[in-house]
Amino acid sequence: MSTKIQTLSGYYHEYQKSVLQPEEFWTRVADTFHWKKRWDKTLEWDFEGPDVKWFVNGKLNITENILDRHLFTKGDDTAIIWEPNEPNEPHLEITYRELYERVCQFSNAMKAKGIGKGDRVIIYMPMVPEAAVAMLACARIGAVHSVVFAGFSSTSLADRINDCQAKAVLTSDGNFRGAKKIPVKAVVDEALESCESIETVFVLKRTDTDVTMTEGRDVWWHEAVDGQSTDCKAEEMDSEDMLFILYTSGSTGKPKGVVHTCGGYMIYTYYSFMNVFQYNQGDIYWCTADVGWITGHSYIVYGPLLAGATTVMFEGVPTYPNPSRFWEVVDKFKVNQFYTAPTAIRALQAYGLEPVEKYSLESLKVIGSVGEPINEEAWHWYHDHIGKGNCPLVDTWWQTETGGIMISAIAGVTPNKPAHASLPLPGIQPIIVDAEGKELTGNNVEGSLCVKFPWPSILRTTYGDHERCKQTYFSTYPGLYFTGDGAKRDHDGYIRILGRVDDVINVSGHRMGTAEVENAINEHPKVVESAVVGYPHDVKGQGIYAYAICDMEGRTEENLIQEIKQTVRNIIGPIATPDKVQVVSGLPKTRSGKIMRRILRKVAEGDISNLGDTSTLLNPEIVDELTKHINK
Ligand code: PRX
Repeated sequence: MSTKIQTLSGYYHEYQKSVLQPEEFWTRVADTFHWKKRWDKTLEWDFEGPDVKWFVNGKLNITENILDRHLFTKGDDTAIIWEPNEPNEPHLEITYRELYERVCQFSNAMKAKGIGKGDRVIIYMPMVPEAAVAMLACARIGAVHSVVFAGFSSTSLADRINDCQAKAVLTSDGNFRGAKKIPVKAVVDEALESCESIETVFVLKRTDTDVTMTEGRDVWWHEAVDGQSTDCKAEEMDSEDMLFILYTSGSTGKPKGVVHTCGGYMIYTYYSFMNVFQYNQGDIYWCTADVGWITGHSYIVYGPLLAGATTVMFEGVPTYPNPSRFWEVVDKFKVNQFYTAPTAIRALQAYGLEPVEKYSLESLKVIGSVGEPINEEAWHWYHDHIGKGNCPLVDTWWQTETGGIMISAIAGVTPNKPAHASLPLPGIQPIIVDAEGKELTGNNVEGSLCVKFPWPSILRTTYGDHERCKQTYFSTYPGLYFTGDGAKRDHDGYIRILGRVDDVINVSGHRMGTAEVENAINEHPKVVESAVVGYPHDVKGQGIYAYAICDMEGRTEENLIQEIKQTVRNIIGPIATPDKVQVVSGLPKTRSGKIMRRILRKVAEGDISNLGDTSTLLNPEIVDELTKHINK
């Protein structure tokens, strides 16, 4: 039975059903999957705990639904098309049967090293097919994967390994990224100096970079799989067993491990993928994200492969060797659905139309956006020049914690409106609340975005710290899941996401906690105190602006700024590097000692016309110093 929505009235009908009878609604979707044992109860929930269980006591293995189920019907169909960083290196097409065999072989290789159900495994790899194989192999044997974006520093990697007490790391000798070759294994070695739990490191040969292999701990991937059987029994998993942990930044200094479980995540990523992108069998689908982020998990690997789709994995970057790279790949594989981030669109828009016009892009049927608000200018450029004005543009709002797309147009079915995520998918009950948590009904309202009913892929906890999960998401407005985003429902009833209302900034679609960056800056021995805010950035959406009070002895300001940037790169990774650092003698503080971030944001934006009342500051004179450079 198809669960694909094809008409606008069909959408309203399904939505209504999903709200009035959520259990029946999701049962119908879940029944299209293979379960080792059917569940006893569809849903148990309580947002106070929080305690959410979907498909209670159901037994399954997600890889049986991705691999085994498709072997007879589509064993020879392409599961993954892999496009390497260098355009002249041959691409790879991996069928469902080959993927099954690779996953089983690597599952057996991990089992041979004593890795099994419940063990945590870190994946710190480039965008190569083995990264998807690694995720699926973990899922096959019941190990819990935690993918760490390979641009994170050794310190960030070590923090994540230690937080989840991982038993193994899967990595490569190096990564290709545009014109650069990054020595990834060396980063892992450095991280492991402060990690005791790791017993095995699997190293994939990718760049032929020289590496040091630690005896008894490090094994080459190709040697580990050599001679392993191409069959491996899928571990029986409970619906609520952990599938993966993915670390994400929040308003506190330490990233948290968002936990997703097997059953609900499987149902929702499949359902949302099929519907939002209107995928048809035989279509070629491409999401340009990295598997290090939730988008890569849900919409490169799990959602598409559960649907038996052909998913493109791209190792490179949009501008290497030239800014036509994306469009060349679209034409090369005749991509039908293309899903990328506004930051990539803005970066490519800056090169003008010449790189686009060399390619026909006529295969495209649907284009999508994710990760941050898409401004109207970028929306129109993407819609007009990439979608040629006739592809629905789905602006998909969701989060690491939501597991799947929550608010988005359904391509060609529900209307898309520039810069609006638009309508909730069936099963999703978003509400907008005021500061007291009162629901704002009707149209033309603005407030905090919450969700009032569970959906199958909602996060279950934050690893090792359930209280933190409760505090962060379920305490601000009791009885509701709080997203951390502000939103507006416009006069037509469409939702527009206004951005974060907490101390999280969104840099090129990547979440960064201001406190996390401040902690890193404070590690510099000359820094006394710092404060970080976001500011509008033409390409990245938001840039990172850091204010630092420093002991200047023996340093020029210029040196210090460079050193502070380098410190952040070393501690978190290049994605967190502040765009601007301003050395200051003080920070605007209230009499109770709280930093007035509102003023810092205004100064960072270069807008000092309306700083508000500064007379309540403990140190009002500091405002002149902060704004001096703007008047210059
Ligand atoms: O602020 C929202 C923004 O990204 C945040 C989630 O970040 P992350 O967990 O890293 O997941 C990114 C990929 C799903 C949200 O709280 N965000 C994501 N998508 C959109 C968005 N903001 C506006 N429009 C979107 N389509």
